[in-house]
Amino acid sequence: MTDLTIHPIGERALTGSVPVPSDKSIGHRALLFSALCNGKSRVSGFSFSADNVSTADALRAMGVRIETTGKSELTVEGVGLHGLRAPDKVLDCGNSGTTMRLITGILAAQPFASKLVGDHSLMKRPMMRIVGPLRARGARIEGAPHPTRANDITAPLEIAGLREDEYLGPLEYESPVSSAQIKSAILLSGLFAHGATHFKEPSLSRDHTERLLSALGVPLRTVGTMVELDPAGWGGQMPALDIEIVGDISAAAFLLVAAQIVPGSRVVTRAVGTNPTRTGLLEILRDMGAGISVEAQGERAGEPIADIHAWTQPLRAGSIGGETVARAIDEIPIACALAARASGTTTIRDAEELRVKESDRIATMATVLRAFGVRCEELPDGLTIEGKEGPLEPADIDSRGDHRIAMTATVLGLLGRAPTKVRDVDCISTSFPRFVGTLRGLGATLDVT
Ligand code: S3P
Repeated sequence: MTDLTIHPIGERALTGSVPVPSDKSIGHRALLFSALCNGKSRVSGFSFSADNVSTADALRAMGVRIETTGKSELTVEGVGLHGLRAPDKVLDCGNSGTTMRLITGILAAQPFASKLVGDHSLMKRPMMRIVGPLRARGARIEGAPHPTRANDITAPLEIAGLREDEYLGPLEYESPVSSAQIKSAILLSGLFAHGATHFKEPSLSRDHTERLLSALGVPLRTVGTMVELDPAGWGGQMPALDIEIVGDISAAAFLLVAAQIVPGSRVVTRAVGTNPTRTGLLEILRDMGAGISVEAQGERAGEPIADIHAWTQPLRAGSIGGETVARAIDEIPIACALAARASGTTTIRDAEELRVKESDRIATMATVLRAFGVRCEELPDGLTIEGKEGPLEPADIDSRGDHRIAMTATVLGLLGRAPTKVRDVDCISTSFPRFVGTLRGLGATLDVT
């Protein structure tokens, strides 16, 4: 198990212009959709985050040839919509909820059986949110009873193969939560269904699936928060992809916030995806007075990109809630670090989804903040956080295997009165394999043990 020791930054600042890893959400989709295409796809700008590698490994186990052809490039030999083979093993999705939920949407429609497992954290995450609607269109999926959530199930998921005379039917589904994982699982099952899929959610979650499938010629139509996929008249063929993946705004977030809270900093994150369904944190930063400017750099594979400049400015408390939360769902932990340095009390509401992420991020962040001497209160759907001036208490943090908690604690550790320890940080490679090197490049001192 790897631990990090973060040395106080003292009078120094963070400075520099850095790339960030490729967008994890788009990486999963590029791999999954290329596998279902006809022909050889090329995926470049790929960072091999552990979560994306879980998706690649699951596809390989179903007969898809994926080859690494460069430091950040791979090729995927698509097998076509109906070319997947029965997996030669139980599919281990590691820590990746996106792998498990999106692949289940595909596997629900296959003529073979499969079984999905994951790590300690993933084996506790709720799965009825996808299994319920998939069952409603004819899928046969069983899970284990969820240990704490009544009427919910969790992995292992056992997916029965469809018999020759069975197929998935049409589906109209209104999801109670805004979730791109639910939406994508349902839409992927819809590629194979006899009949149309209609999906609606309370506010728009990330729309990478819709953008990429539309670019591949899949008959998708979106109206507000409703998306329709009607395969009638569609040939069921998708051409090979050539996609360069944009930088991950959810990874850039840690550096953009670090630049706000380490006095005198000036940081640029380059070629970051700025899809509006992902930019909630930028709005939170602006609302709280942060120094931030977004310089658009055009588009990459149907996704807008920008260089994002961040510099230290005095921060004021914010009120975070409503539909912004869905567009900043993975950034709320690092937004807590921002709140910890703002003058006044920040309130975060409408974020109950955080309770079912890689850890219960509301409870975990409350523990982390208190360890640094920051006052906060846990709410059922969020937190209140009192900004604190001066050095933070030197903390000893257990990441609970959650990459975003480990990175948030590392950023806060820069402001410690003495060195901070963050334990169990291997999870950081889930989404940001070069995190420690990037922070060092910007001027931080960190020891890995
Ligand atoms: C993701 C969607 C989000 C996000 C996760 C990645 C995706 O989850 O938290 O890190 O790639 O679709 P939900 O859809 O469950 O909110």
